[in-house]
Amino acid sequence: MKRIDVYFLLLACILLVCGATLGIVMGAREDFQLVPVHAHLNLAGWASLALFGLTYRAYPEIGATSLARYHFIVSGVASVLLPIGIGLAVLRNSPALAIASSILWLLGVLMFLIQLVRLLRTRAA
Ligand code: HEM
Repeated sequence: MKRIDVYFLLLACILLVCGATLGIVMGAREDFQLVPVHAHLNLAGWASLALFGLTYRAYPEIGATSLARYHFIVSGVASVLLPIGIGLAVLRNSPALAIASSILWLLGVLMFLIQLVRLLRTRAA
């Protein structure tokens, strides 16, 4: 997938805007009930997706694979759904989406692990 690094960074930055906005709102209202949503927007969203993007930038050969596209879809969808799921768990005591999206999120990490192993093999050959 072309420019997969930029797609990852773009989505990461969108989630950072959401996370930072939520942080400001929480601070202004002095209501910290949604701290876990804020933390996951910023860490599972911004920090992790940005690191994936920068890795694809550093090693463009793994960005050209079809696994890279599926990795972006899985990690991207999971990073959006996970904070929503955590919010539903906190506010409505309904954890189903948080559970499902956390498994999807882990699947994205496993795809990234496969990419890194592939990279090692390509570079060793
Ligand atoms: C405009 C930017 C930000 C604002 C206004 C903000 C605001 C806040 C607030 C009000 C809390 C709750 C503190 C408390 O419970 O006493 C918090 C917690 C937290 N924030 Fe942010 N934050 C911002 C950016 C970030 C970023 C960029 C990250 C990570 C990359 C981050 C990660 C966290 C984490 C992990 C917690 C939970 C800490 C804990 O429970 O001990 N925040 N933030």
